[in-house]
Amino acid sequence: MKRLLSAAVPALLLGVFGTPAAAADLTRGQKVYQASCLACHGVAADGKGPAAAALKPRPTDFTSADFWKDRSDESIKQVIQSGKPGTSMMGFGQLQGEDLDAVVAFLRSKAP
Ligand code: HEC
Repeated sequence: MKRLLSAAVPALLLGVFGTPAAAADLTRGQKVYQASCLACHGVAADGKGPAAAALKPRPTDFTSADFWKDRSDESIKQVIQSGKPGTSMMGFGQLQGEDLDAVVAFLRSKAP
Protein backbone atom coordinates (compact mmCIF):
# COMPACT_ATOMS: atom_id res chain seq x y z
CA MET A 1 0.00 0.00 0.00
CA LYS A 2 2.75 2.41 0.97
CA ARG A 3 4.54 1.56 -2.23
CA LEU A 4 1.45 2.17 -4.27
CA LEU A 5 1.00 5.55 -2.64
CA SER A 6 4.55 6.63 -3.28
CA ALA A 7 4.01 5.95 -6.97
CA ALA A 8 0.52 7.40 -7.11
CA VAL A 9 1.12 10.67 -5.28
CA PRO A 10 3.71 12.15 -7.67
CA ALA A 11 1.61 11.03 -10.64
CA LEU A 12 -1.40 12.72 -9.10
CA LEU A 13 0.54 15.91 -8.42
CA LEU A 14 1.81 15.98 -11.99
CA GLY A 15 -1.73 15.51 -13.17
CA VAL A 16 -2.94 18.40 -11.03
CA PHE A 17 -0.12 20.78 -11.92
CA GLY A 18 -0.04 19.66 -15.50
CA THR A 19 3.67 19.69 -16.30
CA PRO A 20 3.67 16.93 -18.95
CA ALA A 21 0.38 18.19 -20.35
CA ALA A 22 1.83 21.69 -20.80
CA ALA A 23 4.82 20.28 -22.66
CA ALA A 24 2.52 18.28 -24.91
CA ASP A 25 0.44 21.40 -25.57
CA LEU A 26 3.47 23.27 -26.86
CA THR A 27 4.26 20.46 -29.28
CA ARG A 28 0.67 20.42 -30.41
CA GLY A 29 0.62 24.20 -30.69
CA GLN A 30 3.79 24.18 -32.73
CA LYS A 31 2.23 21.70 -35.17
CA VAL A 32 -0.83 23.89 -35.63
CA TYR A 33 1.41 26.92 -36.00
CA GLN A 34 3.61 25.30 -38.61
CA ALA A 35 0.62 24.16 -40.63
CA SER A 36 -1.39 27.41 -40.58
CA CYS A 37 0.59 30.40 -39.33
CA LEU A 38 4.26 30.02 -40.21
CA ALA A 39 3.97 31.27 -43.82
CA CYS A 40 3.18 34.75 -42.52
CA HIS A 41 4.35 34.87 -38.90
CA GLY A 42 7.65 33.09 -39.60
CA VAL A 43 9.69 30.13 -38.39
CA ALA A 44 10.82 32.10 -35.33
CA ALA A 45 7.33 33.64 -34.81
CA ASP A 46 8.94 37.04 -35.33
CA GLY A 47 6.58 38.11 -38.11
CA LYS A 48 9.07 37.40 -40.87
CA GLY A 49 7.54 34.45 -42.71
CA PRO A 50 8.13 33.87 -46.43
CA ALA A 51 4.87 35.68 -47.30
CA ALA A 52 5.43 38.59 -44.90
CA ALA A 53 7.29 41.00 -47.18
CA ALA A 54 4.26 41.37 -49.44
CA LEU A 55 1.85 42.18 -46.59
CA LYS A 56 0.73 45.48 -45.19
CA PRO A 57 0.59 45.68 -42.27
CA ARG A 58 3.28 43.11 -41.67
CA PRO A 59 2.34 40.04 -39.60
CA THR A 60 2.63 40.36 -35.84
CA ASP A 61 5.98 39.65 -34.20
CA PHE A 62 5.23 37.38 -31.24
CA THR A 63 8.72 37.82 -29.82
CA SER A 64 8.03 41.51 -29.16
CA ALA A 65 7.32 42.60 -25.58
CA ASP A 66 5.09 45.36 -26.96
CA PHE A 67 2.70 42.85 -28.44
CA TRP A 68 2.24 41.02 -25.14
CA LYS A 69 1.46 44.12 -23.09
CA ASP A 70 -2.24 43.97 -22.12
CA ARG A 71 -2.99 40.91 -24.27
CA SER A 72 -5.23 38.25 -22.71
CA ASP A 73 -5.50 34.71 -24.03
CA GLU A 74 -9.18 35.38 -24.66
CA SER A 75 -8.53 38.37 -26.91
CA ILE A 76 -5.90 36.43 -28.83
CA LYS A 77 -8.28 33.51 -29.37
CA GLN A 78 -10.91 35.90 -30.59
CA VAL A 79 -8.59 37.35 -33.26
CA ILE A 80 -7.43 33.90 -34.34
CA GLN A 81 -11.00 32.74 -34.81
CA SER A 82 -12.43 35.87 -36.40
CA GLY A 83 -9.44 37.45 -38.11
CA LYS A 84 -8.36 41.09 -37.98
CA PRO A 85 -10.26 43.40 -40.32
CA GLY A 86 -8.10 45.57 -42.56
CA THR A 87 -5.20 43.11 -42.46
CA SER A 88 -4.45 39.82 -44.15
CA MET A 89 -4.99 38.07 -40.80
CA MET A 90 -7.87 35.82 -41.78
CA GLY A 91 -10.14 34.03 -39.35
CA PHE A 92 -9.38 30.43 -38.46
CA GLY A 93 -12.84 29.52 -37.23
CA GLN A 94 -12.11 25.82 -37.57
CA LEU A 95 -9.36 26.14 -34.96
CA GLN A 96 -11.06 25.33 -31.66
CA GLY A 97 -10.75 23.65 -28.29
CA GLU A 98 -7.39 22.11 -27.47
CA ASP A 99 -5.83 23.10 -30.79
CA LEU A 100 -6.72 26.73 -30.18
CA ASP A 101 -5.47 26.61 -26.56
CA ALA A 102 -2.28 24.95 -27.72
CA VAL A 103 -1.47 27.47 -30.45
CA VAL A 104 -2.05 30.34 -28.00
CA ALA A 105 0.29 28.63 -25.50
CA PHE A 106 2.84 28.25 -28.30
CA LEU A 107 2.61 31.96 -29.23
CA ARG A 108 2.92 32.94 -25.57
CA SER A 109 6.04 30.77 -25.24
CA LYS A 110 7.69 33.21 -27.71
CA ALA A 111 7.14 36.23 -25.47
CA PRO A 112 10.43 37.69 -24.23
C1 HEC B 1 -1.85 35.41 -44.62
C2 HEC B 1 -0.92 35.72 -43.56
C3 HEC B 1 -1.26 35.29 -42.15
C4 HEC B 1 -1.53 34.02 -41.69
C5 HEC B 1 -1.57 32.72 -42.48
C6 HEC B 1 -1.73 34.14 -40.27
N1 HEC B 1 -1.60 35.44 -39.87
FE1 HEC B 1 -1.86 36.18 -38.01
N2 HEC B 1 -1.58 38.06 -38.68
C7 HEC B 1 -1.28 38.41 -39.98
C8 HEC B 1 -1.27 39.85 -40.10
C9 HEC B 1 -0.97 40.64 -41.35
C10 HEC B 1 -1.59 40.37 -38.82
C11 HEC B 1 -1.85 41.82 -38.43
C12 HEC B 1 -0.67 42.56 -37.90
C13 HEC B 1 -1.09 43.92 -37.44
O1 HEC B 1 -2.23 44.15 -37.10
O2 HEC B 1 -0.23 44.79 -37.40
C14 HEC B 1 -1.75 39.20 -37.95
C15 HEC B 1 -2.04 39.28 -36.61
C16 HEC B 1 -2.16 38.21 -35.76
C17 HEC B 1 -2.37 38.30 -34.35
C18 HEC B 1 -2.43 39.59 -33.52
C19 HEC B 1 -3.76 40.24 -33.61
C20 HEC B 1 -3.83 41.48 -32.77
O3 HEC B 1 -4.45 41.41 -31.71
O4 HEC B 1 -3.25 42.49 -33.15
C21 HEC B 1 -2.44 37.02 -33.86
C22 HEC B 1 -2.67 36.60 -32.42
C23 HEC B 1 -2.28 36.14 -34.99
N3 HEC B 1 -2.10 36.88 -36.13
C24 HEC B 1 -2.27 34.76 -34.90
C25 HEC B 1 -2.21 33.92 -36.00
C26 HEC B 1 -2.30 32.48 -35.90
C27 HEC B 1 -2.43 31.70 -34.61
C28 HEC B 1 -2.25 32.01 -37.17
C29 HEC B 1 -2.36 30.56 -37.61
C30 HEC B 1 -3.50 29.82 -37.12
C31 HEC B 1 -2.10 33.15 -38.06
N4 HEC B 1 -2.07 34.28 -37.31
C32 HEC B 1 -2.00 33.08 -39.43
C33 HEC B 1 -1.08 37.53 -41.02
C34 HEC B 1 -1.31 36.18 -40.99
